[in-house]
Parts: sequence; structure tokens; C-alpha cells
Amino acid sequence: MVVASVAVLSVLCSGHPVPGHHHGGGGVFVPLNPHFYDHSCPQMHAIIGAIVAREHAKDPRMAASLLRMHFHDCFVQGCDASVLLDADGSGRFTTEKRSNPNRDSLRGFEVIDEIKAALEHACPHTVSCADIVAVVARDSTVLTGGPGWEVPLGRRDSLTASLSGSNNLIPAPNDSLPTIINKFRNQGLDIVDLVALSGAHTIGDSRCVSFRQRLYGQNNNGQVDRTLNPGYAAQLRARCPASGGDQNLFALDLVSQFRFDNQYYRNILASNALLSSDQILLTQGRETMELVHRFAADQGLFFDQFAKSMVKMGNVLPLTGNAGEIRNNCRRINH
Ligand code: HEM
Repeated sequence: MVVASVAVLSVLCSGHPVPGHHHGGGGVFVPLNPHFYDHSCPQMHAIIGAIVAREHAKDPRMAASLLRMHFHDCFVQGCDASVLLDADGSGRFTTEKRSNPNRDSLRGFEVIDEIKAALEHACPHTVSCADIVAVVARDSTVLTGGPGWEVPLGRRDSLTASLSGSNNLIPAPNDSLPTIINKFRNQGLDIVDLVALSGAHTIGDSRCVSFRQRLYGQNNNGQVDRTLNPGYAAQLRARCPASGGDQNLFALDLVSQFRFDNQYYRNILASNALLSSDQILLTQGRETMELVHRFAADQGLFFDQFAKSMVKMGNVLPLTGNAGEIRNNCRRINH
């Protein structure tokens, strides 16, 4: 409490948010806090945890999809649930669901809807969609065997979304390492965060279209990616042809697709990473290469850093205090 009020005071006095936090615009920045709903919605964690576990039991890919959702939310105007807004035909904003990284790819929106409905029933107009996405990302990590962490809470929901932000700010799988590092830096995330958070690719799937150019070269010019293990490449080509099959799915981690572990880094060391953006952590940068080796050798170290970096990513530009709103339906702004 003392720490929290000192932090608020420092914001008020200096006009700048505390280090590591960003101002969310509109009103005074209030630091996020894991106990935000302790009194207003004590059942929140139990309700969210039960629904995530149930949906994941029905679909073993769901945890991965939900973990990714938090990332795609936070990288576009901060962790404000902008990613959840449907097109509403009003012309007030452009939905992020149609962006290159999200279209035919980002999934799990129905699970968020289900959680929101349950929370509106238990504690009406209290828990933000942005906080739901953050807690769900943590629960998804734990469910698949990964680390847990206390999720700082008190985010509010945006009144807008940005298609161009989603297209430009979220790294693409064929971006160069300097471009990816810059896109993380723009969010206040460093190289350690980049390498640790990329470890999320220890679970989930990618479509053929996201890595095809590694198999057949840019523009199908036959320049096959030489940092890709030839045996693995042959396997991938069988279901990811030079044209067609764009939506065919492949495990991001060929060894333990449904388990959150440090196998992702071991795959990279064996030239068995699926995406170019994964493999170049080893081949294009010295600092990233060293981190890949360290996380491959020490799962505990990876888990600790992943948890820290997730909290850091969850602190990107939240709307707090009375900025934004608490949406009634995560797909729509209230008015
Ligand atoms: C470093 C830059 C990153 C790039 C270029 C990238 C790119 C991608 C791509 C291309 C896919 C496959 C999408 C598809 O084909 O449908 C994917 C899937 C995934 N990404 Fe990333 N990603 C990055 C970082 C992250 C981060 C930071 C997280 C979370 C902390 C994350 C979590 C996931 C998960 C869990 C999946 C599987 C989703 C599913 O199965 O539904 N990624 N990513």
C-alpha cells in the first residue's frame, strides 16, 4: 500500500509514469495491482480458471491461442482489449481482427466471450476485457505445464482499435532480427524479453503460409533456407506445398506440441525451429544466440524469465483510472 501510494504520488508530482509503466492517456495513471478485484470480484480467478481449463480440455490447442491473444492485444495501443473489438460499421475504428497477423489465425474469441458472460453474471460491470485476456494468458501457460505469476490488474478497455497498428507493430515471421528487436523495443521490451517471450512457441500451431518461404525460397525461387534441418524441411514440404494448402497446420514445437517447456530452444539449436523468426534468434544475433543457449540448458531460468517478461508485456500502455471503460461485451464498445 505504501509502495503503491508512493508510486501514485510520483506520477502526480512528476507528470511521468513510474519506470516500466506507461501512461494510458486520459486521466491519472494508476499502477496495476494483482489485488485489484479482491473485494469487487473475489471469484474472478476461479471463474476464469475453470472456463479456460474446460475449453482447453475440449481443444488442446486453445491454451496456445489464448496466450497469443494477450501478445497481439498488448502490441497494439497497449493491453486494452482492442484486439477483441468487432467491426461495428460506425467508422469510429478499424477492427484488428482483419489484420495480416490475425486474419484466419488468431482464435479463442468465443472463450473470452464465455468468461465475460460468466463474470458479468457474478460481478456485473467490474472486470475489464483487457484484464480477462491477461489472466487467461497466465492460466493457459500454467495449464500446459509452464510457470505461473501474479497478474497485475486494473486495466480498462479501449474505445478504439487499429488495423494499421496490428499490421505494422506485431512482428511478422519473415521480419529480420533487427526489425523484430525494434518492434519489441517500441513496446519497451528488450532482447531478453524477446527471446524469453518467443519461447511461447513451445505450444501451438502455425499455418503453412507463415513459413512457406523457408521451404521454397522467397517468390518460390528455389533459395531454400539453409538454416532449416533438411530432414525436417522434407517433412514440412509433404503437407506445405509450393502453392495451396495455406491453412494446413503444423506444430510450432515438433517434439512436445502441447507442453509448455524449454524444448523450443532445443529445437532451435537443432535447426528444427518452424518459423524464420524463431531460427534467426540463433543465427542472426550474438546476444539472442547466447540467450537461446542458456534457455535450452536451463528450463528453470527460462520459466523465471518468461514470467517476468509476461508481466512486463502486460504493463504496456494500460488504460487505468477512469480512462477507457469496462465493456459489457468484449466485442463492442458500450455506446
Ligand atoms: C517474436 C516475434 C513473433 C513472431 C514473428 C510470431 C509469429 C507467429 C506466427 C507466424 C504464428 C503462426 C500463426 C499462423 O500461421 O496462424 C505464431 C503462433 C503463435 N505465437 Fe507467435 N510470434 C512472435 C512472438 C510471440 C509471442 C511474444 C507470443 C506470446 C507470448 C507468441 C505466442 C504464439 C503462440 C502461442 C502461437 C500458437 C497459436 C495457436 O496455436 O493458435 N508469439 N506466432
